[in-house]
Amino acid sequence: MKIILGPASTALAEKIAQLTNQEKVPVAHKTFPDGESYIRLEGNVQNEHAVIVQTTSAAQDTQLMQLSFLADAAKRNGAHKVTAVVPYLAYARQDKIFLQGENISIETIARMLQAAGVDALLTVNIHSENTLKKFPFPAKTLSAIPLLAEYFVQKGFKKAFALAPDKGAMYIAEQAQKILGGEAGHLEKHRDRYTGQTSQTGKNLNVKGQTVVIFDDIISSGGTIVGAAKILRELGAAKIFTACVHPLLIGNAEKRILDAGVEEIVGTDGVASRVSKVSLAPLIAEALKAQEIG
Ligand code: R5P
Repeated sequence: MKIILGPASTALAEKIAQLTNQEKVPVAHKTFPDGESYIRLEGNVQNEHAVIVQTTSAAQDTQLMQLSFLADAAKRNGAHKVTAVVPYLAYARQDKIFLQGENISIETIARMLQAAGVDALLTVNIHSENTLKKFPFPAKTLSAIPLLAEYFVQKGFKKAFALAPDKGAMYIAEQAQKILGGEAGHLEKHRDRYTGQTSQTGKNLNVKGQTVVIFDDIISSGGTIVGAAKILRELGAAKIFTACVHPLLIGNAEKRILDAGVEEIVGTDGVASRVSKVSLAPLIAEALKAQEIG
């Protein structure tokens, strides 16, 4: 196995190469004046299982093109198998037709990656695990929630309340609850599919005087966490924290969340950010070592 250092995830890929004790393949890359991407493998992948580590976060379209080009380059240079390790897989939220006339973005992406040469995919906390069943190659998602919950145990917040911002994320809160050992619950969130506006309520939630950690897969604009924090304050929570796997933190999301009374935001290095305090490297390295995919 050789680990290709995708331009969007170089630091994480280096850690994974170290933990798996596999050789690294550096990548030369540049962007042409018109915005087009260029990549070149700076190592030999002949007869190798090439593992490309490349997230697809804020510059997702460019990063997806880089990933596709890397898969193609690996195959053209003799790799017998290409596995894409994509910690944050963009476009996974458009996983069904919500309104007539739409496409299913994540299925388009999967077919695009297959055409480029990807034979298997490993991701982390994909928005909905069912999505992967439609992929044209073996695909698996890992969960970083236990690692995030462990961060709060280490901080001395064992027994904290694990809160999901919506019912769909309750499985995330339950995974965190197993580590934290306290209670778990969820808010109700409704999204208007035309305007994108969301509204949340916190019926039957007893968090008075408790330390609450809001767990989510993604923090993007921060609106979901700001809304949840407002409800938690109204319900009398003593301390509020938030943890997410993919800290996209678009615009002033970090400031908005802190201004809403959240004491700390914790994310992983699947998307490199100021709050990436938990590394995915051990989780991904273990999965690669166990050959859990493909
Ligand atoms: C949506 O269902 C996701 O799980 C997240 O809650 C959402 O993407 C967060 O977005 P934002 O930070 O913009 O509210």
